[in-house]
Amino acid sequence: MNAASAGGTVRNALSGYNNLSQYRKDTWSTLEEAAERLAAAAAADRPLDTHVDRVQDLIDRLSPIERYWAFPGPQAFQAGRRLFTAGKYTRFSRAVASVSRALASDSFRNGIPWSVAAAITDQLDHPGALAATTPAQRPYFEVLVVEDMSEAQERALRQELRAWRRPDDEFIYEIVVVPSFEDAVIAARINFGLQAVVIKRRFTQHSGRDMSAVADFADARSPGDLMEHSAEDRAELLGRALIGIRPELDLYMMTEITLEDVAASVSHHFRRIFHSREGTLELHLSLLGGIQERYQAPFFNALQKYSHRPTGVFHALPISQGKSIVNSHWIKDMIDFYGLEIFLAETSATCGGLDSLLEPTGPLRDAQDLAARTFGSRQTYFATNGTSTANKIVCQALVGPGDIVLVDRNCHQSHHYGLMLSGAHVIYLDAYPLNEYSMYGAVPLRSIKAQLLALRRAGKLDRVKMLMLTNCTFDGMVYDVERVMQECLALKPDLVFLWDEAWFAFARFHPVYRPRTGMHSAGSLLGKLRDPQYKKVYQAWSEQIRGATDEQLLETRLIPDPARARVRVYATQSTHKTLTSLRQGSMIHVFDQDFGQKVEETFHEAYMAHTSTSPNYQILASLDLGRRQAALEGFELVQKQVEYAMRLRDAVDNHPLLRRYMRCLTTADLIPEQFRPSGIGQPLRSGLKNMQAAWRTDEFALDPSRITIYIGATGIDGDTFKRVHLMDRHGVQINKTSRNSVLFMTNIGTTRSSVAYLIEVLVKIARELDETQADMSLAERAAHEHAVRRLTSPSAPLPDFSAFHDAFRPDTSTDPAVRTPEGDVRRAFFLSYDDALCEYLRPEQVREKLEAGHDVVSATFVTPYPPGFPVLVPGQMFSLRILDYMDSLDTSEVHGLRADRGYRVYIDKALEIAAEGTAG
Ligand SMILES: Cc1ncc(COP(=O)(O)O)c(C=O)c1O
Repeated sequence: MNAASAGGTVRNALSGYNNLSQYRKDTWSTLEEAAERLAAAAAADRPLDTHVDRVQDLIDRLSPIERYWAFPGPQAFQAGRRLFTAGKYTRFSRAVASVSRALASDSFRNGIPWSVAAAITDQLDHPGALAATTPAQRPYFEVLVVEDMSEAQERALRQELRAWRRPDDEFIYEIVVVPSFEDAVIAARINFGLQAVVIKRRFTQHSGRDMSAVADFADARSPGDLMEHSAEDRAELLGRALIGIRPELDLYMMTEITLEDVAASVSHHFRRIFHSREGTLELHLSLLGGIQERYQAPFFNALQKYSHRPTGVFHALPISQGKSIVNSHWIKDMIDFYGLEIFLAETSATCGGLDSLLEPTGPLRDAQDLAARTFGSRQTYFATNGTSTANKIVCQALVGPGDIVLVDRNCHQSHHYGLMLSGAHVIYLDAYPLNEYSMYGAVPLRSIKAQLLALRRAGKLDRVKMLMLTNCTFDGMVYDVERVMQECLALKPDLVFLWDEAWFAFARFHPVYRPRTGMHSAGSLLGKLRDPQYKKVYQAWSEQIRGATDEQLLETRLIPDPARARVRVYATQSTHKTLTSLRQGSMIHVFDQDFGQKVEETFHEAYMAHTSTSPNYQILASLDLGRRQAALEGFELVQKQVEYAMRLRDAVDNHPLLRRYMRCLTTADLIPEQFRPSGIGQPLRSGLKNMQAAWRTDEFALDPSRITIYIGATGIDGDTFKRVHLMDRHGVQINKTSRNSVLFMTNIGTTRSSVAYLIEVLVKIARELDETQADMSLAERAAHEHAVRRLTSPSAPLPDFSAFHDAFRPDTSTDPAVRTPEGDVRRAFFLSYDDALCEYLRPEQVREKLEAGHDVVSATFVTPYPPGFPVLVPGQMFSLRILDYMDSLDTSEVHGLRADRGYRVYIDKALEIAAEGTAG
């Protein structure tokens, strides 16, 4: 088969995969079976043609991609192929089986199967020697070497690097050699095991091989004509391209010219530059050292060490080192269940090698610094009470009484409470509604700009402090973070941004997600603002828009003034939600140009105000380890998370029985067309390249690892489906539902078997529905059809934020053209502490009052679950639309609505008192 048609073969086989590594493993195991059948047929003298064709087809699938992995390596692959061509089917089958098993079990990582690969190629001088010197469990990684070299040179380099191995090395690695820029980019994308790259002088631009098979997985195009640049510039360009895909990779350059000159001109992306003639020992040690830096977990290690020291405790915490348990007669089962180690690690000490979270100077500070490096922030702080606390800390650190804050009304409750504590004047932003699914989307940039322009007209921009948005939302809507910040900074150059990334810590480790995270966008924006070229672009642009009206500005893509804009970005992440950490482990990432001068002190105060003086060490140690894992295998794990999500989607949508009752909602369902200029309705399903295109251009993107399944046709509402059908009957746990949908998420812990189990459960539920329907009486059928109709017809429209009552609006201007809508949430909240100022009204009484033209003002948050966002906040006025919406809900759990009494609202006297306070 020629190369071009081999590319076609792979392309066809690949449809349905989003992860080339998975495809490769699956193809090897299919080849194992096919080779076994071929060998058996040959041994029994049966016809071989179909078996030979099948094996040939599978080899053709693997052949364009095998070169990007170290095991079994291109030479072993070619040698295996020769066994097949020579008709030595039994040996071929055995060789394929050992490779396939080593790949499936990952056992090649512990060294032993390398002798197999060596035996296949016959390339290692002492097969087995490697196995003997390689203790199992030594972490393994691969190093990409970029140089156009001959097979003999490649072999020599491999041997030379292997020769430096020592039994007490902490890690072990193998090399993958590629000859070109394009091949290097593809390898970085698809080989998760790569942790370091050595770029040498001689590499070509184009691969020279057929790349069509992998084109959908990696955009390997190199910038312009690379050969016009010097070797060092080429290395620099390649380094940048690789860091763009995987910022965690350790980059090394090997050059033959004056090191000092190169060192002076090469960017900080390179960890080190070596002279080729100096041999490879330095390189070998640096490779190991680079991994060691990411591998260290300073706080975890300190705690481990401390836990094994005998100590006498004359202090608090009787449980420390398990002391109050081991001698107990009644709670010994605690140790049986948890094991002793966790109690050995319980201590209240902040010295003896440990550290204080409130004033870290030792291993906790180091652990936070490493996290900052991994997550691309300037400072990172650990929080042991979840993002609920992290949000309050950031809010209190930056917002003072009377500051104006813009916030998504559907934000997590911690923002509401944080703003209330800070005494902020709040402007709520409305997300676009998805009435069909009783869900909200995200806040359109246009409405954020409209609020900023209104505040500018009112002369209040100086009081505007912060914009808080949730990215991504619970349902998976992802903002174009950099664009939002750019356009807002064009209107308010020192605006602070808080991105609530409670659900988005993993996003840093996927090249398509990363540009839409707060920290990456902050770095990228600062880079642009500092670029001298940008200054010129801005000058020309500002000339162009001079004199534009507010209406025109709303329609224009705004860019900030580089002389005035400050990049001030905070992101809060529930590490425990999407990466590895014990529950409540969160991080606050800071990228604020003004942090040192303006915030550090108040941040410290706010941190002290909300942080326990007895923080949980196990949570802190797990944050440290979660960071280590993300830095070393986040890329691999997030790709798997996405892959499994796509498999779940495919399984639901392609299953004839499931299709009758459920459907996965697509990007096109959840993000209206006007926010998707790319016009791509199902970005990832139509190829990674399409996902990249959509994520580059669209105002909102949908996180593919969140799968909202529409279940209206089952006649079962989301909450019942979750509690009764998934949890009680099958032990499947999910969190979010709406009236007619349930949300499933894959995460870095999701396995292929758990996806298969979920599909099995969904099929079982669908089968039961089929059976129940077949046995229904006429009356039951009518009731079922009614339930389906109710769930599939639109509910009452989701209500927008109505308005704060005038009594809670500090802006008392009578000119509606300049009056802005901010509300004093603290006053609205605390006034309700006086029972004499509140009363309860049942929903029908509220309706009567509204219809009679009276205002009714909520004294509390009113939050139905699901969907779980407040429909009313303290100080907000009821509207008929809000009542209609509440009437249409089937949920029994509504916080702020008492079944026996109704809604808690302010009496007129309260509003008079509030109005006097506001006027005063
Ligand atoms: C958007 C958002 N922010 C913050 C939080 C609070 O996070 P944590 O559970 O870590 O306190 C949540 C919790 O669900 C959330 O959904």
